[in-house]
Amino acid sequence: MPDFRHLSFPDAPSIKTPPPGPRSQEFIACQASRESSAVSYPKGMPMAIEQAKGATVEDVDGNRYIDFFGGAGVMAVGHANPDVVQSVVDQVGELTHALDFPNPARRRLVERLSALLPEKLTRLYFGGPTGSDAVENAIKLAKFNTKRHPIIAFEGSYHGMTAGALSLSSGRSFRESFLPLLPEVHFVPYAYCYRCPFKKTPDDCGLECAQYLDHVVEDPHSGISQPAAVIIEPIQGEGGSVVPPASFLPAVREICDRHEVLLIADEIQAGFCRTGKMFAFEHTNTVPDIVTLSKALGGIGLPISAMAYQERLNNYPAGKVIGTFRGNVLAYAAGASAITFMVDNDLAGYATTLGERMLSTLKELEKDSAIVGEARGKGLMLGVEFVKDKATKEPAPDLARKVRTACHRRGLLIEIGGHYDNVGRFLPPLVITEALARKGLELFADAVKEVETTR
Ligand SMILES: Cc1ncc(COP(=O)(O)O)c(C=O)c1O
Repeated sequence: MPDFRHLSFPDAPSIKTPPPGPRSQEFIACQASRESSAVSYPKGMPMAIEQAKGATVEDVDGNRYIDFFGGAGVMAVGHANPDVVQSVVDQVGELTHALDFPNPARRRLVERLSALLPEKLTRLYFGGPTGSDAVENAIKLAKFNTKRHPIIAFEGSYHGMTAGALSLSSGRSFRESFLPLLPEVHFVPYAYCYRCPFKKTPDDCGLECAQYLDHVVEDPHSGISQPAAVIIEPIQGEGGSVVPPASFLPAVREICDRHEVLLIADEIQAGFCRTGKMFAFEHTNTVPDIVTLSKALGGIGLPISAMAYQERLNNYPAGKVIGTFRGNVLAYAAGASAITFMVDNDLAGYATTLGERMLSTLKELEKDSAIVGEARGKGLMLGVEFVKDKATKEPAPDLARKVRTACHRRGLLIEIGGHYDNVGRFLPPLVITEALARKGLELFADAVKEVETTR
């Protein structure tokens, strides 16, 4: 295992003033007085952030936290990764904006990305800077090539907040104030085995969810016209760190092939070593037609997104999809050096080994705790689903929120997601040391115990 100790603050966690400390409170009040009421993260974890290193974060009151949140999965190579910082510093005096003109930083990133992707994914497109932009571009590319409109997405999906991406995201709370969205988007069940809508268990499962997808695409009276594409997160993130059975993605690929529908894999969260492979679709040797990328691609959080796709889809005339910020030169430099760091340090292998160890500790917690319905995940994309009752599986979003607060007070940052906002999610920087990971799990278990006994 590589030694990443030097990348993080040596003394985290260290809570000097229970958060939010006085300076944090002042920052939060100032933010609340001028910024939108839509600001959300400081409401769940009240603090202002001063600096961050590796898998640790320091707030403005000098408290240091273990970061299981990782900037929502962005910080794969760690906050302020020195190699990546240096590549950005070197670039900033050279060139910082170039539209889509070729330039050395862009070329380096294209070469490194191309070397990682399966051979069939020959083409790259840099669109707007966020993950949602990549999803918008994937929708357009699929529609342009197939001359069809319907798209099938999955229950529990999250693909972003721009109009098209939001149309493909299933969460009611995100969608319902903004309807109508894109027409002809349909949702089918994901392989979320803990809450199987077909009431199957892994033992008697015939992959009914994939069969249902097959049915709606095949049956001329399903009410769904022939889709342009099926979009899938190979492992669902915001939906609650849901890992489908290994046969699911290949089954979806086969259905798409049989019905001549494009398969879009959204790797915005699961990509770049997070789940123990460079891309999550590689766990099953499935090659999508289109792949969306973002988050960790910007190395130290510089905004960039990309879409990779197969050669036969490369039919746009020049200027068909345009925009001022298509790609970002600093982010190309950061992304190229982040990829080098990932490969040189075998971050995928590291995430596999550490993720397995962490999951086995969480499985013990699942056994011992009355409010942990399921612990699951792959690599360093982990989730703990909270329930009021293990037999009924009644979701417990209030307990998940309390656990997040109890973690924050102890010096651990976690994310919440899931169908019912009842899943504690871990997306730590992949350079987290085993010692920090173990300490973080101890704090988490302690927080769960406190919430369980005081509920
Ligand atoms: C799988 C997936 N797709 C798309 C997005 C949207 O990315 P962004 O927030 O950068 O627009 C996210 C964000 O969490 C995501 O997890």
